[in-house]
Amino acid sequence: MAEVVIVENSRAAGDLVADAILSLIASKPDAVLGLATGSTPLPVYEALAARVGDIDLGKVSAFALDEYVGLPASHPESYTSVINREVVEPLGLVPERIHVPNGATETIRSAGADYERAIHEAGGVDLQILGIGSDGHIGFNEPGSSFASLTRVKTLTERTRSDNARFFDSPDQVPMHCITQGLGTILRARHLVLLAFGEGKADAVAAAVEGPLSSMLPGSAIQLHPHTTVVVDEAAASKLR
Ligand code: F6R
Repeated sequence: MAEVVIVENSRAAGDLVADAILSLIASKPDAVLGLATGSTPLPVYEALAARVGDIDLGKVSAFALDEYVGLPASHPESYTSVINREVVEPLGLVPERIHVPNGATETIRSAGADYERAIHEAGGVDLQILGIGSDGHIGFNEPGSSFASLTRVKTLTERTRSDNARFFDSPDQVPMHCITQGLGTILRARHLVLLAFGEGKADAVAAAVEGPLSSMLPGSAIQLHPHTTVVVDEAAASKLR
């Protein structure tokens, strides 16, 4: 059973998770972080930026969960751009150590295996930050994702495309496909930290933490992991028994 921590608000969650990340880095300066994008992890990145001071993050490396396929990396809403803007620049991380799956169509056939190899060569992810979609996805593992899946191309559901339309000028600009770490990839990280805020996430959180294990509830994969921490506000926790 995941450890569930109910916090007052997203800011308190950001403080808590940032402290956990900095204590990991204090004991392991070459820690490998797993990064999520979207709105949920932003308070963590903000709290880290506020705390980092003169802590040396020069040996830290990181792997993002996912990327859109076919959106140029230079597009402001590509996850490559988002990770640079929200994480690499404010924290002063070494850009060469920060990885995002390659969503370029020309190389997409080998991009999944390449990413798996890079994670393996880095020694695996120590702490993986996760958000959760309103349809229960983690990474972009939409309902119907195998628990054994590795990094690969997936089709985004209409619900996810409409949830993410807020980042684009119009809903039809949201790409149809993504490349995402698989549930099997995510489960290999040594510690999973899933964050969720607001009542729109309450069903997905309850399904992930207490629901039956099902590939139709991709978040439920966290129940297979021996070290998962779920950090939620009251609203996101409201459907937990
Ligand atoms: C992002 C990701 C997704 C998001 C999820 C929630 O890298 O993997 O699983 O965490 O779509 O998005 P937000 O946080 O914007 O509600």
